[in-house]
Amino acid sequence: MNLLILSCGTRNKVVQYFRKAFGEEGKVITTDCSPYAPALYEGDHHYVVPRMTETGYIDVVFDICKKEQITGVLSLIDPELSLLAKHEDDFKKLGVRVIGSSYELCERTLNKWEMYLWMKEHDYPCAKSYISLEEFKKDYREGKISYPVFVKPAKGSASMQISRADNEEMLDFLFSRGDFMMIQEFMAGQELGIDCYIDLLSKEVVSIFAKKKLVMRAGETDKAISFKDETLFKKVEEFVVENGFTGQIDIDIFENNGCYYFSEVNPRFGGGYPHAYACGADHMSLIKNNLCGKVNEKIIGQYEEHKVMMKYNEIMIIEEK
Ligand SMILES: Nc1ncnc2c1ncn2[C@@H]1O[C@H](COP(=O)(O)OP(=O)(O)O)[C@@H](O)[C@H]1O
Ligand SMILES: [Mg+2]
Repeated sequence: MNLLILSCGTRNKVVQYFRKAFGEEGKVITTDCSPYAPALYEGDHHYVVPRMTETGYIDVVFDICKKEQITGVLSLIDPELSLLAKHEDDFKKLGVRVIGSSYELCERTLNKWEMYLWMKEHDYPCAKSYISLEEFKKDYREGKISYPVFVKPAKGSASMQISRADNEEMLDFLFSRGDFMMIQEFMAGQELGIDCYIDLLSKEVVSIFAKKKLVMRAGETDKAISFKDETLFKKVEEFVVENGFTGQIDIDIFENNGCYYFSEVNPRFGGGYPHAYACGADHMSLIKNNLCGKVNEKIIGQYEEHKVMMKYNEIMIIEEK
């Protein structure tokens, strides 16, 4: 049982946790397109690979799978999720399980507009959204929406180009900064983050970890506190099952007056996952069990609450050969 972690970047902790879970039973292999990705050096073996957009990239990944006798593969970056899902059958032929969601779901979550349409169709509370400036302005004139609003690229990530617009002048400017921009009702209330694992074999939601985000910095949660809420767990489970996600996912939710508004899903380990792990939500062991053919028991809510996570910087030194 050997795991391949693609585009590991700076997610050192994720690699360390996997190595701890696998112990003597399997190896953890890392890749990145840059030799200066620190998480590379946490792996048992590592490979510097071409950029995922280069032709032949996936064949390089297949070669590593063969050479290292890989049994499971996952990626830590959004653009690679669909690529892995698309090649699920090719991986299967090599005896490798893709730890992630289907191609259709990876594409849906990458596109905030598609996700919004899905949530509306399935009656999940979410922020009213527009991709047409004219339609927004029409609704504004008719009193159906008011300022402030939130403007962001429908296919954006890492909080890039996200801004609040307080009036029409600001909105016109922000909207013109990209091709596929989305205007959203401004969400007040408490931001929540969910780390969730859906068993690859039983397809059941087996683990849900919830945190309140206290401080955000550069598009990531900088400080957060763990909490539990059975109503939230039920809502999340329903949402995840209805979508059909599998493997590890990360969900953003706004809580306002007791109502949960779903905002975003990333079908991968999110940057804030170490908080969940530190509180006892060990998803690496769940993945290891699945790779061994074992179905996991449900452990929803089995973690420590009231635990505050505070990020700080670390450095790694390597010798250039
Ligand atoms: N409609 C909204 N109202 C208020 N804040 C928002 C809204 N949408 C996003 N945000 C803020 O911007 C952050 C990034 O937006 P998100 O939709 O999660 O995109 P990304 O893919 O960049 O993470 C969120 O974590 C939240 O803090
Ligand atoms: Mg987000």
